[in-house]
Amino acid sequence: MSAANSFWDKTAQKYAASPVANIPVYETTLERTQSYLTKNDHLLEIGCGTGSTAMRLAPYVANYTATDFSGEMIKIAEEKLSKAPQGNLRFLQVAAETPLADAPFDAICAFSILHLVNDLPGTLSQIYGQLRPGGYVISKTACLRDMGWYLPPIIRMMQLVGKAPHVGIFSATELSTAFERAGFEIVETDRFGLKRGPYFIVARRPA
Ligand SMILES: C[S@@+](CC[C@H](N)C(=O)[O-])C[C@H]1O[C@@H](n2cnc3c(N)ncnc32)[C@H](O)[C@@H]1O
Repeated sequence: MSAANSFWDKTAQKYAASPVANIPVYETTLERTQSYLTKNDHLLEIGCGTGSTAMRLAPYVANYTATDFSGEMIKIAEEKLSKAPQGNLRFLQVAAETPLADAPFDAICAFSILHLVNDLPGTLSQIYGQLRPGGYVISKTACLRDMGWYLPPIIRMMQLVGKAPHVGIFSATELSTAFERAGFEIVETDRFGLKRGPYFIVARRPA
């Protein structure tokens, strides 16, 4: 187990028990995401956590593969699925950086994970490579550089005592540029009315 897995494994129960931070933003994100999906899609979600979003979105696609590198997160997600089975949904313990054999996917979702990967350009290239031409990546990301000068030093201090995982510090503009450098066309961006809120980006692999 790597240090990063270990942080999220230890956090899993607490994460599962904590309420959604902003329900209207969460619901809007789901609705907006749904508008890009079709009943024929095979969708990949990376960094799916405890699977709440996968459970909500799976009815809108043909097949939903939800992955996370934390075994404890996936265990909780599988418990949820066993209580409310959905035949087209599967959870896998896989890192976002690892390609899956059943690529290409019609859509890839990445919610609250792109700021956590060690190599953002590499992960975006990886997503690009796993999408069919014309497919969408639908993402929401904390852009810490836009969220207040005081946050990066606080995070660094928390990391020193093992209370925060690796976090990439970038702005929404830098994130959009990273998507474009990976070859994507940006389709839409939004902050859902929150000046410093998470940044929603839908991008498309050109057809
Ligand atoms: C902040 S949580 C977000 C979970 C879920 N997407 C949500 O929106 O509630 C971040 C998740 O990303 C996972 N994660 C972080 N880095 C990852 C990586 N490199 N590969 C796969 N999962 C990763 C963590 O285990 C955790 O479950």
